[in-house]
Amino acid sequence: MKTTRLRRHAGKLALVAAALLSTQAMAAEQGPSLLQNKCMGCHIPEGNDTYSRISHQRKTPEGWLMSIARMQVMHGLQISDDDRRTLVKYLADKQGLAPSETDGVRYAMERRLNTVEHFDEQLSQTCGRCHSGARVALQRRPAQEWEHLVNFHLGQWPSLEYQAQARDREWLEIALKQVVPDLAKRFPLESPAYAAWEKAKPKADTLQGQWAFSGHMLAKGDVRGVMTVTPDQGDTFKVDVKGAYADGTPFNGSGSAILYNGYEWRGNVKVGDSHLRQVFAALDGEMKGRMFEAEHDERGLDFSAAQAGKARLLAVQPAFIKAGTEQEVTLVGSDLAGKPDLGAGVQVTEVLESTPTWVRVKARAAADATPGQREVTVGALKGASLAVYDKVDEVKVVPAFSIARIGENGASVPKVQGRFEAEAWGKDASGQPLRIGYLPAKWKVEPFNERAIEDEDVKFAGTMQADGVFVPGGAGPNPARKMMTNNAGNLKVIAQLEDGGQQGEGHLIVTVQRWNNPPLP
Ligand code: HEC
Ligand code: HEC
Repeated sequence: MKTTRLRRHAGKLALVAAALLSTQAMAAEQGPSLLQNKCMGCHIPEGNDTYSRISHQRKTPEGWLMSIARMQVMHGLQISDDDRRTLVKYLADKQGLAPSETDGVRYAMERRLNTVEHFDEQLSQTCGRCHSGARVALQRRPAQEWEHLVNFHLGQWPSLEYQAQARDREWLEIALKQVVPDLAKRFPLESPAYAAWEKAKPKADTLQGQWAFSGHMLAKGDVRGVMTVTPDQGDTFKVDVKGAYADGTPFNGSGSAILYNGYEWRGNVKVGDSHLRQVFAALDGEMKGRMFEAEHDERGLDFSAAQAGKARLLAVQPAFIKAGTEQEVTLVGSDLAGKPDLGAGVQVTEVLESTPTWVRVKARAAADATPGQREVTVGALKGASLAVYDKVDEVKVVPAFSIARIGENGASVPKVQGRFEAEAWGKDASGQPLRIGYLPAKWKVEPFNERAIEDEDVKFAGTMQADGVFVPGGAGPNPARKMMTNNAGNLKVIAQLEDGGQQGEGHLIVTVQRWNNPPLP
């Protein structure tokens, strides 16, 4: 019965995440009184604005939101959306993570749901089979708090011990005696990195100004432009973006953002008809992360931006050139000035446009240019590279493994698409693999195995479009299928380069809807 309530609440969590973005100024003043009024009923005050459980954990804004939302769902906490926002801001600022403590696991906040995790076997099997391992790695606690968490899991979901990878072993004993000490060591409450960050964290208004950005969306291409950040009250901002994709599609819009803990940037920007979220780490004049559609988080772009006043070369678009060809290349960055240089064997034949945020040039790679990476410079700025290649040796489908989900067809959950690109690899002069970049390809899907042939997965699971976007089938039982099963499927994704014809292969599972979709997977 609890589970049903949790499921029903899952939809709401998505809205809550959106609402995160409009928090007001007063977190610092209102936080303590909200803790007292809303939490003290169940959490014992320990003096000086500290409470049992609450004050012995550190986590991300999403982590705090999930904990408080869980208090509402499971323990009947009554709190308004506004007050919850204020508290999330207060706790995320006071008990967050140092930037380095999120290294390697930001994909969970960025909702890169096709990420294949690589935790050790014990953590994966004990903790990473119901949710991501990143949900664990994005928290810091002392041993006792990790222990409470294990006990809470078993108390809340007693059937846990009868499920896969718990039924064949003493789950509770392993969790308490092996995993808890390990977690307390790896993810401790107190860390030098956090102590240093608490002292050093910059004020939100240092982010104001113009930011040159560069991005890439799978199955769409490179994007670039300028983002203008105007501070509002309480660590919030007005945000404007103005730019375009390499194919000319405009990328213009506006919205708002909020900064948690001195660097966790969360924005909500409407670009054209799409509502896009921004999940960035803002550090040292650079923002890095992912921008994705609120309702379709699989449609997103890798994003980086450089602040005006802190000269930086961010990216080269495209970041490859074939020996013996001429093409346009754009260097993106902030405060760009001086002569662009693309390295040995690549000549800048003409500067087409030069602004502080981009330099557009015509480049020619000599027919005998040595294959390999070139350091690109503009004036004294370095930081980007250009791959010179002679031929493609290998094609990898990106992502190599992914999950699409059936949806709609009368069901409340949208379809989750697959989005693919063909990543070409060559060899450099010393025979080492050289990543070239994404090249145009023709796309198709084939059955992954015998079973998929027998069940005609290719016919039912969805359609691969010419642009590398896979649109899954409708949700629900399908009378045309064996046993009236749904439109799930197991497929190979095949890319064939338009130029050269080399092929690459990926794996796509088309499965059912994800009903429970909290901010951290
Ligand atoms: C009605 C009682 C109740 C209220 C009110 C309540 N909590 Fe809790 N809280 C609990 C219980 C019981 C637990 C331990 C079991 C669990 O983790 O769900 C808990 C655990 C927690 C934890 C630890 C979760 C973990 O992952 O280990 C946090 C953090 C927390 N509460 C935060 C809050 C905050 C913040 C508030 C106020 C906004 C609040 N709680 C209000 C009952 C409550
Ligand atoms: C049987 C499935 C299952 C297993 C196994 C599991 N979890 Fe969870 N975990 C959950 C569910 C369900 C939630 C609650 C999600 C929500 O609030 O939306 C959760 C929540 C959490 C949270 C967030 C709690 C908060 O309020 O801050 C953490 C951290 C966590 N789990 C860590 C672990 C660790 C560590 C282990 C291994 C010892 C583990 N989980 C094993 C299902 C599981």
